[in-house]
Amino acid sequence: MPPFQTVIYEKSENVAYITLNRPQVLNVYNLQMRDELYQILCAIKDDDEVKVAILKGAGNKAFCAGADLSEFLTAPSPIIARRVRWERDIWGLFLRLPQPLIGALHGYILGSGMEMALCCDLRIASEDAKFGLPETGLGIIPAAGATQTLPRVVGRAKAMEMLLTADRIDAREAYDVGLVNKVVPRAQLLATAQEMAREIISYSHGAVRYAKQAVVRGLDLPLAEGLELERRLADLLFSIRTQ
Ligand code: COA
Repeated sequence: MPPFQTVIYEKSENVAYITLNRPQVLNVYNLQMRDELYQILCAIKDDDEVKVAILKGAGNKAFCAGADLSEFLTAPSPIIARRVRWERDIWGLFLRLPQPLIGALHGYILGSGMEMALCCDLRIASEDAKFGLPETGLGIIPAAGATQTLPRVVGRAKAMEMLLTADRIDAREAYDVGLVNKVVPRAQLLATAQEMAREIISYSHGAVRYAKQAVVRGLDLPLAEGLELERRLADLLFSIRTQ
């Protein structure tokens, strides 16, 4: 894979590490990062060596402070149009990743940073994490899924509060409302994500993928269809295991 300018991609012991790497501007998301993430996610989804992916941010201050406002405010309209088109793909790609994706979240997790975190299957926050959706305060709405993904994670009331007031919440509150799975000291953030990744890797690859698929696809279905989906996936897994 070519070296990237805004993201570091590494692979080790069946784990893919995706590091947002613009620490001087709090890892804000720009067009180049979008294009590089797109390439990386396409490679990961077809890479059978990758059993789990970990998404994290470089530097001390932020996982990602949102969209790059300098680009956002100066981009001519064709670029914005292109951005919108591509964004749909990249967020869909994030959400369709067959392998579990773990977010290791520290510092500011704002705007599209929060939306990327919401695409993760498991979220681990360090104690200094601050989550927020500043979009409404900027006269826009989230465009990378948060109006849909956030209520599915924290419920309608808390999602509305975060979307409509743009108030930030800290790591403890994020844990209390179910936005993150664990809160750990900053120094243990990556190690905790790696430990979780190792545990998942130790289990049957097919069982892990199908369990993820059942939850992700099932959440968009009525209960009866979701149960049917689960039965089909369980049968499929059983037939593969007994072949
Ligand atoms: N787009 C572009 N650059 C950004 C940015 C963004 N969204 N957020 C931060 N930066 C840049 C700053 O301009 C600054 O660059 P500089 O050193 O060249 O001046 C650098 O990142 C550090 O940010 P700074 O504001 O100095 O850090 P801080 O600790 O004082 O404040 C925040 C941190 C996150 C509270 C503040 O940067 C902020 O509110 N950012 C905007 C968040 C946002 O609205 N995101 C967009 C959502 S759509």
